[in-house]
Amino acid sequence: MTRRADIASPSLAGVSLHLGRTSRALTTWQRDALTASDHDRAARYRRSADALRWASRRAVLRRLLAARVGTAPNRLEFGRAPCPRCGRTSHGRPVVVTAPWLHFSVSGSGDHWLIGISSAHVLGVDLERARPVDVDAISRLACSSTEQRVLRLSPGSGLRLWVRKEAALKARGCGLGSGIRTVLEDPTLSVADVNFGPTLLAACAVVAADGSAARVGQTG
Ligand SMILES: CC(C)(COP(=O)(O)OP(=O)(O)OC[C@H]1O[C@@H](n2cnc3c(N)ncnc32)[C@H](O)[C@@H]1OP(=O)(O)O)[C@@H](O)C(=O)NCCC(=O)NCCS
Ligand SMILES: [Zn+2]
Repeated sequence: MTRRADIASPSLAGVSLHLGRTSRALTTWQRDALTASDHDRAARYRRSADALRWASRRAVLRRLLAARVGTAPNRLEFGRAPCPRCGRTSHGRPVVVTAPWLHFSVSGSGDHWLIGISSAHVLGVDLERARPVDVDAISRLACSSTEQRVLRLSPGSGLRLWVRKEAALKARGCGLGSGIRTVLEDPTLSVADVNFGPTLLAACAVVAADGSAARVGQTG
């Protein structure tokens, strides 16, 4: 089962979010939704629990996207957009090759996963289980000087900040690496926290169509 949350923040209108949990085993529809290459990729995980997590999330992703496109889940073809940093397509943002107007982003943490879908915006999502983190390392390696000051006053917000940054970097399509310190100052990105209760932290970032200033909002 998935739990759906439409983002209330006006800057993120047109994004739907689906939170779900890995099932104990793949169901028949999930197995059928996957392609041979999906099954191959799942088989490459060393731990069977990780294979199940990835495969069940992938099946749901295929089903959600296929419903929008009007095709069978196992007929969707995924590819990669060019990485905005180096231009290579080996590690850029995942795209649906046959429906380039449809954007999505996926994140997993433990048995939970979050899928964001939009035909209005390129987007990125991140999901993390609430847990203690090394705030000093986040501050030192990933934060601007302003964010470092905020973290000194409020060290408990380290993981929240990290989740926002990872969502923003995924919306940009380059993943972690250079740019992480200042990504939340990018005026072309809008970033919103998404509330799924106290044990999960989530954020969604979109590339604003009008280039308006980035905002951070909270949705219930
Ligand atoms: C993208 C990245 C942040 C995801 O981190 P993660 O720990 O795997 O975390 P999540 O579970 O939240 O996200 C996984 C999803 O990220 C997505 N993803 C991968 N690369 C992405 C990118 N460049 N942009 C946006 N999303 C990306 C995929 O959909 C993946 O799901 P999948 O495994 O089902 O395909 C991380 O893999 C990363 O930074 N990769 C490095 C990219 C790179 O090589 N950069 C060098 C630039 S020159
Ligand atoms: Zn690159």
